[in-house]
Amino acid sequence: MTSTTPRIIAVGNLKGGSSKTTLAVNVASALAEHGAVVLVDADAQGTAAAWGEAGKLPVAVQSIPLADDGQAAFAAWLSKLVALKASAAFVVVDLPPNLGGVTTAALTIADLFLVPVTPSGMDLRATEKALQLLRQARQVRGGEKPFALLVPSRVDRRTAAGREIEGVLSDFREQVGPAISARAAHVDAFGAGQWIGAYAPRSVGHVEIEALAAVVRRMVAR
Ligand SMILES: Nc1ncnc2c1ncn2[C@@H]1O[C@H](COP(=O)(O)OP(=O)(O)OP(=O)(O)O)[C@@H](O)[C@H]1O
Ligand SMILES: [Mg+2]
Repeated sequence: MTSTTPRIIAVGNLKGGSSKTTLAVNVASALAEHGAVVLVDADAQGTAAAWGEAGKLPVAVQSIPLADDGQAAFAAWLSKLVALKASAAFVVVDLPPNLGGVTTAALTIADLFLVPVTPSGMDLRATEKALQLLRQARQVRGGEKPFALLVPSRVDRRTAAGREIEGVLSDFREQVGPAISARAAHVDAFGAGQWIGAYAPRSVGHVEIEALAAVVRRMVAR
């Protein structure tokens, strides 16, 4: 089912290098098969924007960076995001790490918080903090939104941590999504300026991203 109301999907975690950008670019690109998508690069590092620079992604990439510098900046940033919503079926926001205020701002309007978590103790601690922000946002909004999906990312099932990640994430009491395994193709797709579905169609990496995007679509259709 394709949603007719524009949906905002915020991809974030407070830990750097947890696969936020890889997930944002690939999920946005998979969603583009079902409606117009704008991918917002909210990170001043500009990784998502660099990925789209070659013009090979099936989504429009907009750089709307936000630093953690106060309410006025947040309000201006949020109004840009709301304006984009009108032109797309899905807005996917790639959030920066370490900036709780930026994540909080995004969660005031997001329909879904997509949280990639790699099987490392450091990621789990940052995830706990990110989920505190999520629960605060739900309280302020007085409802069940944003929905949340924890996505085991860069998973290597040869390691114990990789085999146990779903069990560990279930303790957070949020939905745990289809996992994305560690694949060299994800790294190389960035170098090629393509999403995984174009770079390595029907590869395991592509199939996993499509499975994740299908869950995302179901969740935001509610
Ligand atoms: N599933 C995967 N398999 C293999 N490598 C991956 C996978 N996901 C991400 N990577 C690699 O891990 C590194 C970090 O990924 P990415 O840039 O997506 O993380 P991030 O959370 O956006 O980082 P930052 O916090 O710096 O914004 C990159 O080199 C990326 O190519
Ligand atoms: Mg990133």
